[in-house]
Amino acid sequence: MSEDAIRTQLWIGNEWQDATSGRTFATRNPATEEVLAQVAEGGEEDVDRAVRSARDAMEGKAWGRMDAHRRSALLWKLADLIEANADELGRLETLDNGKTYFEARKVDLPSVVQCFRYFAGLADKIQGATIPVSGPFLNYTLREPVGVVGCIVPWNFPLNIASWKVAPALACGNAVILKPAEQTPLTALRLGELAAEAGFPPGALNVVPGFGETAGAALVRHPGVDAIAFTGSTEVGKTVMREAADTTKKLSLELGGKSPNIIFADADLDAAIRGATTGIFYGKGEVCAAGSRILVERAVYDEVVDALAGRAAKTTVGDPMESGTRLGAIVSQEQLDRVLDYIRIGKEEGARLASGGERKTVDGKGYFVDATVFADVDPEMTIAREEIFGPVAAVIPFDDFDDAVAKANRTIYGLASGIWTRDIGKAHRMAAAIQAGTVWVNTYNRYDAASPFGGYKQSGFGRDLGFQSALDKYTQTKSVWVALD
Ligand code: NAI
Ligand code: MG
Repeated sequence: MSEDAIRTQLWIGNEWQDATSGRTFATRNPATEEVLAQVAEGGEEDVDRAVRSARDAMEGKAWGRMDAHRRSALLWKLADLIEANADELGRLETLDNGKTYFEARKVDLPSVVQCFRYFAGLADKIQGATIPVSGPFLNYTLREPVGVVGCIVPWNFPLNIASWKVAPALACGNAVILKPAEQTPLTALRLGELAAEAGFPPGALNVVPGFGETAGAALVRHPGVDAIAFTGSTEVGKTVMREAADTTKKLSLELGGKSPNIIFADADLDAAIRGATTGIFYGKGEVCAAGSRILVERAVYDEVVDALAGRAAKTTVGDPMESGTRLGAIVSQEQLDRVLDYIRIGKEEGARLASGGERKTVDGKGYFVDATVFADVDPEMTIAREEIFGPVAAVIPFDDFDDAVAKANRTIYGLASGIWTRDIGKAHRMAAAIQAGTVWVNTYNRYDAASPFGGYKQSGFGRDLGFQSALDKYTQTKSVWVALD
């Protein structure tokens, strides 16, 4: 891909614009450490410009009073354009994030397209109700857009998580300002351009890249922004919640996790071991729902640990554009350091390193780490409690059903979980007992635009995906009373 094909300015009002400050920041290819592009660095004034553009769109006829059928058609058109440009977008995502091209092109992109099509179908089905109140009154509800929605997204699934928020927000008739992560701004910018090509009027979708502490914080504080949909770390989520209080913004937070993947002795062990392996190593483990705690019933513990370690050792780490690669590059030097630090802490606290644990390079470059398995992990150890966000599994033995439940729930998080058993009753009892927003039984890492996704406990609140979640997050209800006599 030639340098000039990469979009690097702010996308506001369907136009490329420089940052007011004139500043730019570098985004790197984590597989080569090379600078991919210098991207306009959005700041407070730029966010303000984007908010004005979005507000104009909401107040104008072109977007604010557009027919729902037309909105639906635009979303469908945008899905078509994303599909037609999927090779380019997949390549951009791999270059910017370091994930394998297979994952970007064959998993992320189709899921982005599905997401836009699903919410295209919602756009013209949003309706209120007629309510039987006492007295001579007609009472009905209107489902109206919230207004201007700020979407702040992370770097692990840049376009995918952007689509989880942008598609339903636009379907519900809001104007959107998308703030991509500073590590991975490129596909979001291209999305803005494609939306204009699809026919979205100026201001309906603006994209302002920049840093969290500046551009992100400005969006959260801006009185002209009505809602924030955030995905990222629990730590920043708490800051966003505090900052949003001043303007009582509508808020949804999809935060971190330390999800348990629970293997019972009566499971199909081959399937469970495969599922636990991809559950932690897919996407380099930079997955909010990663099955980073693998709980294994004692009767099969040694067998499962050996098999997990064997699979980890065979996981090919390297150039994400190579078709044989299973584990690409960690997104940034900062994240690499964080992952290596956790590996060091795991060893220091006495966990047994069963496989991996080393940094890797390709031709002396790149932020790669081996698929790493720690066995005999005590639930109190740091690597069993904190989100590592890298290819590092903590394997923990358990005694029985109750012990599995207790260990699974022994976390501040509650995003996802997996259960492997052939006993149907046990699977459902377990599904009920686990405090997490998603439970996968005899599978892991399944997503669909139709199925809600989000957290219990400190993994956040509000749900992405699913039509009910979209209505909850991106519309507000107005009750209208009419005197009949
Ligand atoms: P982060 O939470 O700082 O970044 C997520 C997004 O929030 C980015 O767009 C960032 O620019 C923005 N942001 C940061 N500070 C902000 C602020 N004060 N106001 C508004 N927006 C702000 O995540 P980071 O630092 O890149 O990664 C650190 C750790 O967070 C990871 O190691 C991982 O454990 C966790 N994480 C979890 C994610 C998830 O999907 N649940 C995604 C990304 C990170
Ligand atoms: Mg950060």
